[in-house]
Amino acid sequence: KVNSEIQTDIVTLTRYLTETQHSIGTAATGDFTYYIRRATLINLVGLAGSENKTGDEQKKLDVIGNEIFVNSMKSSGKVKVLVSEEEEEALVFQGAGKYAVVCDPIDGSSNLDAGVSVGTIFGIFRLDDDAEGKAEDVLLPGTELVAAGFTMYGASANLVLTVKGGNVDGFTLDNALGEFILTHPNMRMPKSRSIYSVNEGNSRYWDDACKEYFNTIKEKGEKPYSARYIGSMVADAYRTLCYGGIFAYPADRKSPKGKLRILYECAPMAMVMEQAGGQAVDSNMKRMLEVIPTHIHDRSGIFMGSYDEIETVKKIFAKYQ
Ligand code: AHG
Ligand code: MN
Ligand code: MN
Ligand code: MN
Repeated sequence: KVNSEIQTDIVTLTRYLTETQHSIGTAATGDFTYYIRRATLINLVGLAGSENKTGDEQKKLDVIGNEIFVNSMKSSGKVKVLVSEEEEEALVFQGAGKYAVVCDPIDGSSNLDAGVSVGTIFGIFRLDDDAEGKAEDVLLPGTELVAAGFTMYGASANLVLTVKGGNVDGFTLDNALGEFILTHPNMRMPKSRSIYSVNEGNSRYWDDACKEYFNTIKEKGEKPYSARYIGSMVADAYRTLCYGGIFAYPADRKSPKGKLRILYECAPMAMVMEQAGGQAVDSNMKRMLEVIPTHIHDRSGIFMGSYDEIETVKKIFAKYQ
């Protein structure tokens, strides 16, 4: 008797993209996982000695990860405009590409040398047929994204993908096959969960609404919330997606516009959160997906996660507006 536990109908990312007729995919190759897992062995740890447009020191892997991403978008033939955290200007590719891609090649790179999970965030816009291909083409609200997602290179390499109006689906890299396998179809975030994730070291810079919210969840109610902050948004967001709770990087006195960047960090993550049943808002409690950047590297405060947790944030912030 054949073991009925054995999965014989495996959905790989390639099959998923073919069956769902999503033309947005480019084959996943595992290049990122390879370099990140071997970084310590092949002298890829440490700084590259340069800074990017948003003032971050670049790690060697930020630079290499960016090159891998740029090259694969360029060679896909489907991309006309590419915005990357590590590129000061938008890149424009000649050819028939109809899409604009925004990306954070390595999110959480300050954690790299300690072997903590990092990942890649991406968003995809469909350009107008007559778009010339310039930075302004992507100064759009997240509601215009046709697809978004992120990968997380942790104990396993995970890929989370969502297409406009669709489910959030989770894949896991099978190293032996070199393919992402659909392991978490239709991810739904729990409506509430007592976990909070924020860099509390910044609390002295927070405004009163923010202070009240985080005090409330710790001091009031039946029992305090658990604190979980990795410092790689992809990892904090993946946990929030799986377990529920709230992740925040608020705008504060030190970073009045927040830290995370709208196009390639906040908007793609907000799309994933919403399509998994959660919510994402900025520090003015505006729906994150409706925030329109004026420059490609603009930042925003963000609160995202379980539906009910964000409702509580909104209620408390409303008292101060
Ligand atoms: P990146 O590594 O792409 O520059 O992004 C870093 C971001 C994000 O991953 C994380 O949530 C946040 O910075 C952590 O910032 P703090 O160290 O200020 O908490
Ligand atoms: Mn950075
Ligand atoms: Mn990032
Ligand atoms: Mn980055």
